[in-house]
Amino acid sequence: MNDYAFCVPTDIRFGRGQIECLDKEIGKYGRKVLLVYGGGSIKKTGLYDKVYEVLKDHEIYELPGIEPNPKITSVRKGVEICKEKGIDVILAVGGGSVIDASKHIACGTFYDGDPWDMVLDRSLVTKALPVFTVLTICATGSEMNPGAVISNEMTKEKLEINHPLLYPTLSVCDPTYLFTLPASQTAAGTADIISHIFEQYFQPNDGAYLTDRFSEAALKTCFKYGPIAMKEPDNYEARSNLMWCSSIALNHLLTFGKGGGWSVHPMEHELSAFYDITHGVGLAILTPAWMRYILNDDTKKRFAMYAKNVWDVIEEDDLKAAVKGIELTEGFFKSLGLPSRLSDVGIDDSRLAEMAAEAVRTSTLKTRAYVKLDASDVEQIYRNCLY
Ligand code: NZQ
Ligand code: ZN
Repeated sequence: MNDYAFCVPTDIRFGRGQIECLDKEIGKYGRKVLLVYGGGSIKKTGLYDKVYEVLKDHEIYELPGIEPNPKITSVRKGVEICKEKGIDVILAVGGGSVIDASKHIACGTFYDGDPWDMVLDRSLVTKALPVFTVLTICATGSEMNPGAVISNEMTKEKLEINHPLLYPTLSVCDPTYLFTLPASQTAAGTADIISHIFEQYFQPNDGAYLTDRFSEAALKTCFKYGPIAMKEPDNYEARSNLMWCSSIALNHLLTFGKGGGWSVHPMEHELSAFYDITHGVGLAILTPAWMRYILNDDTKKRFAMYAKNVWDVIEEDDLKAAVKGIELTEGFFKSLGLPSRLSDVGIDDSRLAEMAAEAVRTSTLKTRAYVKLDASDVEQIYRNCLY
């Protein structure tokens, strides 16, 4: 097991009605709140009115319209409001996009230049406003981690800032807020959680036994409850298990003692940067193709372990077991109604080489991935799931 530092300062308030804590908890930091939200789902679900009811003694300013794959232009607007109004706390009500934009606004408020500079150079992050979140879609884990992924529509870059100051101060995780999620978002969110677990599970270190077992339990949770949540949107047991799973899948618990770079996320971030597709959909398309591409004599043992421990595959030959595990993974994504080819989401071969080069340039694919990949490998993986 590798040495590891683990410190997650986010206060999680999990369960029905936890939103009531916000008045008291936000009050510890001040009265002026910037409420950040997306395209309007929170108005339809009644959560918007609830926030105003709970925070009736606060002074609330608003930044609506955060887009899926949040844009730097929205971050700039938020920073302007925070500076002009002297905001004390940011309240993000939504999913990863809203939370990520809020984190970036939180640190951008204390920087004099353009917030995009901080994405390129995280040493510019020196201070941040407290960010509170009310989670409405479980997928990214942003509610309990220090990452924020922001897109620059001008340069077609989608990059992450990651800084300890960006952990949310407190996150309200009420599974009943997931009841209104459309099936397609439940599917994409589940694929994202699964991919986060894979990114940490498929790494070279075989000594982190406990971490691997945690990962397998988290994967089983997704495979069991993803389909149930889609069929029965208000199934509390399914929603609550998936919600907690999304948080622990990316609060670094599953990297404990392992280390190593990620593979599928950097490849997917190019798809959503160039084509603005849903993150979880891109991951579902790429994951089986990546698995097949890197399956070899060195990796077959770990893939077989996954197949046996997570899918109960009975097969003595590691390679055969590994192949079966990959087929089951692909079949699972299809059963959720997720697209399986790039052409299904309007991506053709015209920019594959460009995206592959960017994926390698902006990540550690070539230096730290489970199986190191250069631009020609990435392009081939894209091609293998084109049609
Ligand atoms: O915008 P509104 O109207 O609110 O609708 C949203 C949005 O269209 C809708 N939605 C959310 N909650 C709902 C709801 N609709 C009905 N009822 C509800 N309760 O769902 C849509 C998607 O929301 P979004 O926030 O974009 O989804 P997600 O949480 O999957 O976030 C995706 C973004 O996070 C990044 C992704 O790349 C992408 O930009 N990621 C962030 C990470 C992090 N910070 O750690 C890691 C991830 O790997 C990922 O890269
Ligand atoms: Zn993700």
